[in-house]
Amino acid sequence: HVASLLTRARDGDTEAIGWLVFALSLLFWLVTRLVQSLSAVLVQLKTRDGTGLKLPPMYQEGLPLVGNLFAFARNPLRLAERAYAQLGDVFTIAIGPKRFTFLVGPSAHEVFFRATDDELDQAPVYAFSVPVFGRGVVYDAPLTVRLEQFRFVSTALRAARLREYVPLMVAEAETYFQRHWQGRSGNADLLKSLSELIILTASRCLMGREVREQLFEEVSTLYHQLDQGMQPLSVFAPNFPCRAHWQRNRANHEMRQLFARIIANRRKRYQEIAEQAQRMLQDPQQALEAAKEVDVLQVFMDSTYRDGTSLTDEQITGLLIAVLFAGQHTSTITGTWTGLLMLRNPELVARVRSEQKQILYDESGRFRIDYDALLRLENLHRCIKEALRMFPPLIFLMRQVVQPRSYRGYVIPKDDIVAISPPISMRLAEVFAEPDRYDPDRYAAPREEDKRAPFSHIGFGGGRHACMGEQFAYLQIKTIWSVLLRDFDLEPLGPLPPPDYNAMVVGPKPPCLVQWRRRT
Ligand code: HEM
Repeated sequence: HVASLLTRARDGDTEAIGWLVFALSLLFWLVTRLVQSLSAVLVQLKTRDGTGLKLPPMYQEGLPLVGNLFAFARNPLRLAERAYAQLGDVFTIAIGPKRFTFLVGPSAHEVFFRATDDELDQAPVYAFSVPVFGRGVVYDAPLTVRLEQFRFVSTALRAARLREYVPLMVAEAETYFQRHWQGRSGNADLLKSLSELIILTASRCLMGREVREQLFEEVSTLYHQLDQGMQPLSVFAPNFPCRAHWQRNRANHEMRQLFARIIANRRKRYQEIAEQAQRMLQDPQQALEAAKEVDVLQVFMDSTYRDGTSLTDEQITGLLIAVLFAGQHTSTITGTWTGLLMLRNPELVARVRSEQKQILYDESGRFRIDYDALLRLENLHRCIKEALRMFPPLIFLMRQVVQPRSYRGYVIPKDDIVAISPPISMRLAEVFAEPDRYDPDRYAAPREEDKRAPFSHIGFGGGRHACMGEQFAYLQIKTIWSVLLRDFDLEPLGPLPPPDYNAMVVGPKPPCLVQWRRRT
């Protein structure tokens, strides 16, 4: 029959061509189903190894092979939500050749957060960041080196250092709103304003005085070019030949050159200071310590690996870019949601203001923000934490399975991508009562809903790779909102914007307009 169809098709019979196309499609569908089933059986057999464990249930939507892929491209979060509603707290979604196994809810999160790096690896799933951060750092470094680099980051972000960054954060926030929100009243896009302010603050606290005072425009342009080079496409094909990727590579190169100059100038200046101290019979070490800059760049310049070697200029630049990326969108988005949600609750704003009056003003009525005062702003803290619960900017955290993991009688095999989803897990009604309600008091005693089980609130991740910038982010967002609430009455305009799932880091869809009136 096929042979006669082929002969008719060769003679130009359109009906025969139609039948042939139909038959071929059917064949293709059958073969792909067969291959899929076979590979599932093979994985199942490979992982059974007498333990009696089975693979998590598979979720399939639409046409085999392509159905999940299309649904994922449309809205990955909704796909995972539908799978969770159907299959429960552990399930696998095959997307193309990759298997993503999801773990939802506090007890499933234990598998993810309690694993070591030898069991679940970050590097392969975050490899798309390598062209942005550069070679030899973070996910491009061998595990032992990566862990040492994380140690440098954690030194740069520990309490003693944060204490010194707070005055810089305050100065940036005050200057920004004086300069950009001029007059008695106006409208502003909160997301845009906070994004501008946070990159200014980051450039000061992380990259240092030279960048903030002389090179800000240049660094900010390079940052945007790097940022544009991190698209959803880049996750699957980080080196796909396109303009955004070429620009990203050029920006990375220029950033390295720029920091090499800054680092060289700093070293030269420090050497001159030490020599001058020596000439004046003073202690050169003491003179040097007094002259050193207070920023993350300086911490990286002074850090040494366990074998005594210092970081190369390229590694310093790469780590700075990595820290900048970790904090920029995430803090901007969380700061913006905090405002958009809090300002819709006048009672909350009144409470935050009264707390501000008690803590941030001294007896003489002088307004003063410092590290200790910021830590005591509990109401504001809960407002931020609740905004982060409802709208976490990182919607999937992922690892690649190196050693199979088990959960509830299921085995998650080697090479699976294991994923958890903060926005899904932090809206579970069994963990957070009325999860769709903005209710910062859920964290206050006696409710403390986040403390009933570990890994319930995972906006900053958890376990050994929990966010190192959590404190930094809270200090920065609290500083911004303390300055804003002191100086302005604010009202959100229009309905609450929906989250923008087309972005890599998910925030409110612009515009996020507020109306402000300067307080007298
Ligand atoms: C890791 C969220 C701000 C530095 C993480 C992770 C999350 C997160 C969920 C875990 C990723 C994973 O497990 O795969 C946030 C949010 C922020 C924020 C929501 C703002 C509201 C910052 C800031 C910095 C920073 C300001 C630095 C100044 C880091 C670093 C890691 C990290 C270095 C990697 C830790 C590791 O892998 O060991 N962040 N972050 N973050 N974050 Fe943040």
